[in-house]
Amino acid sequence: MKILVVGGGGREHAIIKKLLENKNVEHIWALPGNGGIAKDAECVNIGAKDIDGIAEFAKANKPDFAVVAPDDPLVLGAVDRLEALGIPCFGPRAAAAEIEGSKIFSKNLMKKYNIPTAEYETFDDLEKATEYVRTKDMPIVIKADGLALGKGVIIAETLEEAERALVMMMSEGAFGKSGSRVVIEEFLTGPEVSVLSFTDGKTVVPMVSSMDHKRALDGDKGLNTGGMGTIAPNPYYTKEIADECMEKIFLPTMKAMNEEGRTFKGCLYFGLMLTPKGPKVIEYNCRFGDPETQVVLPLMESDLLDVMMAVSEERLSDMEVKFSNGAACCVVHASKGYPEKYETGFEITEDDMGDAFVYYAGAKIADGKVVTGGGRVLGVVAKGACLKCAIDAAYKASEKVHFENDFYRKDIGQKALKA
Ligand code: AMP
Ligand code: GLY
Repeated sequence: MKILVVGGGGREHAIIKKLLENKNVEHIWALPGNGGIAKDAECVNIGAKDIDGIAEFAKANKPDFAVVAPDDPLVLGAVDRLEALGIPCFGPRAAAAEIEGSKIFSKNLMKKYNIPTAEYETFDDLEKATEYVRTKDMPIVIKADGLALGKGVIIAETLEEAERALVMMMSEGAFGKSGSRVVIEEFLTGPEVSVLSFTDGKTVVPMVSSMDHKRALDGDKGLNTGGMGTIAPNPYYTKEIADECMEKIFLPTMKAMNEEGRTFKGCLYFGLMLTPKGPKVIEYNCRFGDPETQVVLPLMESDLLDVMMAVSEERLSDMEVKFSNGAACCVVHASKGYPEKYETGFEITEDDMGDAFVYYAGAKIADGKVVTGGGRVLGVVAKGACLKCAIDAAYKASEKVHFENDFYRKDIGQKALKA
């Protein structure tokens, strides 16, 4: 089989490596892929948001199956376009991807179907939004409605910060059109859990739980990033909580999307907060998480392509989706200065990684060498029989990748170990 994968980050590298475990996979194209992915797939220089380019490429090359991984192409309808060409896909159509594409849509969905989430109001008028926050207790959470590269959420500690955030989003256009409408919601507390699930609209199969580390610096300090590391499983997510989430969140969400005529097929990501009043949804993503995928897929024992095809053909209930009892840890290595200013173009080398492995993200090829090409450069991943074993192994392996200005957090998984 020939497979087309849309995307070019660490998540896509993890997906591609897992797909290659299937003996029927002869060839994978990554659009656009990256310099590190190029070792495992044919990278084609077509951007993930270039829906016309992706469709043209698919028409000419006739892949047997396509996986659309990032949020942008999903929201822009890449799956709709590929399916119209007769190419079976893993990933939601645009109507279903709206669950991530619009926070107002997802909040209203949760309210309508009684799915637990933070109390909220939505606004498209700066004055009304400002009046509203003046009546509320701080901290308060302000979210741009649309996609904003994971940066559209501001937790305002003071009224001044809240008012400033509203002006920035609604009048100065900090997130373009994405911020012209906002959700203002109650500040929740509790451990966060990421649960990625497979769903075909009939069945939901949660994958092993995980924990992201979004801040740039140790101790959850510094700016928000795309994710500086992950561990799986998440020790806060007990069997009891998992059962409660299935009953109150996962199944109701799948059914709600069906009711709305937006059947979701693909990977539905539940960003949860385990609050003193029970688990609540912080956000939905219409795709695999990054860097959650880098720890979840290595623990998957079932064949990824078989499961993805079953989702596409709506026969997920026939599949046994198994995960190992072990643990995994991903340490993201970034370019010093990320998520603000950083330099690129430094050669990346790997010593013998042993049982650990590397998923490339911000990497490109220059003069035949793999060099840094982005903020988050790569993730070093290790598995272990226990969480501590996996963390220790990932840090040991982290010393075996080399590039100038390498920066990584030293405390990935420490909070989980204290749970
Ligand atoms: P998001 O981009 O929606 O995942 O939000 C980024 C981060 O902001 C989340 O991972 C949480 O840590 C935090 N966050 C979002 N919504 C809330 C909330 N209602 N209360 C507390 N923290 C939140
Ligand atoms: N790691 C969070 C996300 O993928 O949105």
